[in-house]
Amino acid sequence: MVRLWAGLCTLTRPGFTDSFESQLGQVDPSFAAVLSKIPLRDDHQLPPDWLHWEMLERYRVLERAGVEAGTRVLEVGAGGHAIATVPLAHLVGESGRVVAVERERWTFFQQTVEDAGMGGRVLPMACDARRLPFPSETFNLAACVHGVRSLRSEAIMVEVFREMLRVAPCLFLAESLPVARNKAQLAHLEMYNLREEIFEQVLGHKDDLHYKPLEGLVDLLKEAGGTVVESRVLDTGLPHFLAFLPREYVERIQDDTVRMDLLNRWEKANWLLERHGAEHPPVGILVAAGSTKNSDLLLCRGDSTPKGL
Ligand SMILES: C[S@@+](CC[C@H](N)C(=O)[O-])C[C@H]1O[C@@H](n2cnc3c(N)ncnc32)[C@H](O)[C@@H]1O
Repeated sequence: MVRLWAGLCTLTRPGFTDSFESQLGQVDPSFAAVLSKIPLRDDHQLPPDWLHWEMLERYRVLERAGVEAGTRVLEVGAGGHAIATVPLAHLVGESGRVVAVERERWTFFQQTVEDAGMGGRVLPMACDARRLPFPSETFNLAACVHGVRSLRSEAIMVEVFREMLRVAPCLFLAESLPVARNKAQLAHLEMYNLREEIFEQVLGHKDDLHYKPLEGLVDLLKEAGGTVVESRVLDTGLPHFLAFLPREYVERIQDDTVRMDLLNRWEKANWLLERHGAEHPPVGILVAAGSTKNSDLLLCRGDSTPKGL
C-alpha cells in the first residue's frame, strides 16, 4: 500500500497542498487499505488519483450516516465509478449489502467495485429510482450521496425521496451546498454552475442542476412525506475534480449567442480553477424518517440497532 502512494506525495494542486498519503493517514486503516487496491487512473485532464480523493470525500460524508456492520443499504444514483458505493460497501461489512441503483451510467462500476474487493457486498441494479422494484421496508437505509443534482427536477426529487422512504425507514441524503467559504470552493461553483445550461444546450435536457440550499432540500423531503431528524453541514476541505468540462464541449453549442456567453463564463471559471484549484463546497447532510413512529425516528437517529439482513 505504501509503495502505491509514495509516488503521489509530490502531486500538488493549486490551493491544496496536503498530500493524499497524509490524508490517508487520518482515515480508518481498513478503508485506506480498500482505497489502495484501486489502480490509479489515466483520465484526460484529471490527476491519476482523482477517484481516490473523491472516494475519500464520500467516506468522510458517509461516516455521518451511522452505517453499521450488517446494514442493508439502497443507494440511489450510484454513477459509473461507484464513488460512494465502495465506501458504503466497506461500512456495511461482510454481512451487509449495498444495492446500487443507477439509471444509465455503469462504465467503470463493476471493475472498480471488484478492484476494491467489494464485489460480494454490492448488487448493481439498472432502474429508475422513481419506481423501485422492492417491497416496502426491504432495506434498513436508503442513501443518495451527491446524486440529488442529477434528478433533473424538483418533482422527480420528491418522487425519488418518496420511493426511498417506502423501501427503507430511514433516508440519508448528502449534497453539496451553493456556498463558498474560500476561493477554491468558489472556483468549483463557478465551473459547476455552467453545467446545467451547457448540458441543456448540448444534450437537450438538464443535468447537474445547481446545488440547492439546505432548506430547499428539507422542504423537498417534507413534501415526500419524510420527517427530518438530523440536519448538518460538513466542510471536508477536500479537493474536487469533477466540475470541469473541456472548452471543446462548450464549443458544440449551436446557438451563437448562447455559445459566446457560455464560453466567456467558462474562461472566467477556468481562470479561477487554474489559480485556486477546486474544493468540495460544504455538504448538506440530512437524515429523514419515513414516518413519525417512535421506532423509526429512533432507528434513524442511530439510537437503535438496524434490523439486519
Ligand atoms: C452525480 S452522479 C453520481 C453520484 C455518486 N453517488 C457520487 O458519489 O459521485 C448521479 C447519478 O444519478 C443517476 N440518476 C439520475 N436520475 C436517476 C434516477 N431517476 N434513477 C436512478 N439513477 C438516476 C445518474 O445517471 C447519475 O449517474
